[in-house]
Amino acid sequence: MARLLSIFVLLVFVLHVASESTGEVVEQINGEEFTEELLFRPLPDRKVLSHFHFESKVPPTNSYGHHHRLFPKAIYQLVHKYRIREMELSFTQGRWNYESWGGFDPVSSSNAKPPGVELWAVFDVSADQVDASWKNLTHTLSGLFCASINFLESSTTYSAPDWSFRPLSSNLRYGSLPREAVCTENLTPWLKLLPCRDKSGLSSLMDRPSIYRGFYHSQRLHLTSGEFDPMASDHGIVLEQTLTVVLQPDALETRGRKLQPNWSMSSLFGKTVDGKCALAKSSNVYVQLEGSLVHNMKDEGDEGLESNLNFEFSISPDRIMKEVNSFHREHSSILYGFSIKDHHSKPFDLGFKWNLPVTWSCVKAPLRVSRFLMGSGNERGAIALSLQSTEWSQSLPKVDHNEEKCRLKVDVFQVVPWYIKVYYHTAKVYVDGVPQSFGDAIEKLSVSPSEDKVSPGVMEMSLKLPCDLKSASLTLEFDKGFLHIDEYPPDANQGFDIPSAIISYPDFQTCMQYKQDNASIKSPMVSKMQEKRKILSYTEVLLVPLTTPDFSMPYNVITITCTVFALYFGSLMNALRRRVGEEERLLKEKDKKSGKLPSLFSKLSAKLRGKPWDPPSSSSSSKFISSKTAALVNILILNCLGVNVMNLIEKAASILGKKLERTKFVKMLFGTDFEN
Ligand SMILES: *[C@@H]1O[C@H](CO)[C@@H](O)[C@H](O)[C@H]1NC(C)=O
Ligand SMILES: *[C@@H]1O[C@H](CO)[C@@H](O)[C@H](O)[C@H]1NC(C)=O
Ligand SMILES: *[C@@H]1O[C@H](CO)[C@@H](O)[C@H](O)[C@H]1NC(C)=O
Repeated sequence: MARLLSIFVLLVFVLHVASESTGEVVEQINGEEFTEELLFRPLPDRKVLSHFHFESKVPPTNSYGHHHRLFPKAIYQLVHKYRIREMELSFTQGRWNYESWGGFDPVSSSNAKPPGVELWAVFDVSADQVDASWKNLTHTLSGLFCASINFLESSTTYSAPDWSFRPLSSNLRYGSLPREAVCTENLTPWLKLLPCRDKSGLSSLMDRPSIYRGFYHSQRLHLTSGEFDPMASDHGIVLEQTLTVVLQPDALETRGRKLQPNWSMSSLFGKTVDGKCALAKSSNVYVQLEGSLVHNMKDEGDEGLESNLNFEFSISPDRIMKEVNSFHREHSSILYGFSIKDHHSKPFDLGFKWNLPVTWSCVKAPLRVSRFLMGSGNERGAIALSLQSTEWSQSLPKVDHNEEKCRLKVDVFQVVPWYIKVYYHTAKVYVDGVPQSFGDAIEKLSVSPSEDKVSPGVMEMSLKLPCDLKSASLTLEFDKGFLHIDEYPPDANQGFDIPSAIISYPDFQTCMQYKQDNASIKSPMVSKMQEKRKILSYTEVLLVPLTTPDFSMPYNVITITCTVFALYFGSLMNALRRRVGEEERLLKEKDKKSGKLPSLFSKLSAKLRGKPWDPPSSSSSSKFISSKTAALVNILILNCLGVNVMNLIEKAASILGKKLERTKFVKMLFGTDFEN
């Protein structure tokens, strides 16, 4: 009985402990946070921007511990192993159209990315260890995201911008791979970091064919950590994952009327949302209408925010937020919010219909930037950066009140691979076609010239241009270098990429302040929009043709030698294997069989020539002799030829052998490095 009682007491104790620990777990879940959000924005060129925003938060390790329920372990370990303070990785396909999709709003300035892969990271290690950490980080990310990010390991591909990329950025490394192809194998590991993967919640919309059919898609991962910063002791790790897709809704032809296409979640992605991700704290969908669109619609005569004659939603919005303190008073945008609850009865499928035609234009960055190559030939050329004012910059507020002349500051950050040897002293700045003196146009310039096979050339330049400019341009001359044979990429004749330059405007900041009608509903995406951030635009990637060796030469040599070998051995074997006695017997049999017709024919021909006809028996013996000699001659000729061919092959091999080692030859043939 006493034993039974003690067992009972033990059981009660265990249950008590268990219930206490589950209480702790609930608290811990409250510490970690995951939210999912999706923003739609109709674009003026009849496309729709979809921007997914997922945020995972974990409190600092010293108050919370190492065990996580929601936060991805891979990212936590990455942050701790390499002591990362901030990191951003993006995979992009397509080019952001700054003209029609905007260049002045928070979404475009943080999600318009250069094509391919871009990675930058700030480390919390001593300055001499940053490079080692960067190298190890690129390898880890490469494995994590199934991409060749490890190519950024080489010191020729990354750089350490001083001030133009981010102000006061020590321990920052920046690298980009313009030619990296982005596809589903990069998206899948990215989705794996979400607690619900793409099984439920907003991420279940991510239908691969719809996403990759889009005009632009950029998948981004941004990480900030306060783990190593004693000042930010309550800031743990925040992981922000965004996917930005520009899609064209399938629109029926509308005769004459310039009606924007109607769209819905199911028409854009071919899928609907069944309910929120059970682990998400909140799950919201937003539709943003830009300020100029709202402004143009108001002209149609409708004033209310709730009901508008111009368009209608298939679901009525849960909340409406209006932008306050907009850069342009009359242009304040509106955000319609929809909460996804557990819509188990009915799938959530937000639709948007236009009833009246409306046209508008996006808010653009102060300057329209493009970069191109000048010059011809394989020796030298020039890079030109052209800046043109947009209509937006006409209405810019005066930037510098102290100076009598208004100045527009433009920062340029450009990394150029070492084989493009840029002569920085040839930099010329033209404003409206007039050359400017160096001191007039350039406020600050720092340059680190490239070093062959060691480091790329980095240029950071701060231009000050008059506000009323129409166009400005910057040119830099360069020489093209020579690469070693194994430094050529597989398709060298395509040309070599110069990564995008980054243009930013330090005097302007983008930020959208929304008046939230209910402060208890906090949206990380809306708070992100409210953060002040720099306006960035990326230029095109340049493709420079370099002198390339004739990679088909070894192939040609091999095919020619093989053909000659085949011919030689074929005829030699034929000559050697020919059985002369057998042939003779066959010939005789033929003669016997051939009967009267051929003998008649030869008689006739002899008569015609006026010669006496001799019987065929003698001719067969002469034929036999001649066939024997012919075979001999054949063998002799082939032998001579063979010797010549051998000489030729030896020569070719020696030429090749001198130039290449065996491994390099293989590399050159197959274009890849088998060691990696
Ligand atoms: C990077 O990786 C190498 C090889 O695994 C290791 O020896 C080195 O300590 C690592 N460095 C850093 C800074 O993590
Ligand atoms: C969008 O829907 C509205 C209302 O149903 C309709 O009048 C209009 O023609 C549709 N527009 C297009 C482009 O299909
Ligand atoms: C704000 O939202 C909360 C939760 O949805 C709700 O309980 C509260 O009544 C709302 N407050 C206002 C002012 O709408």
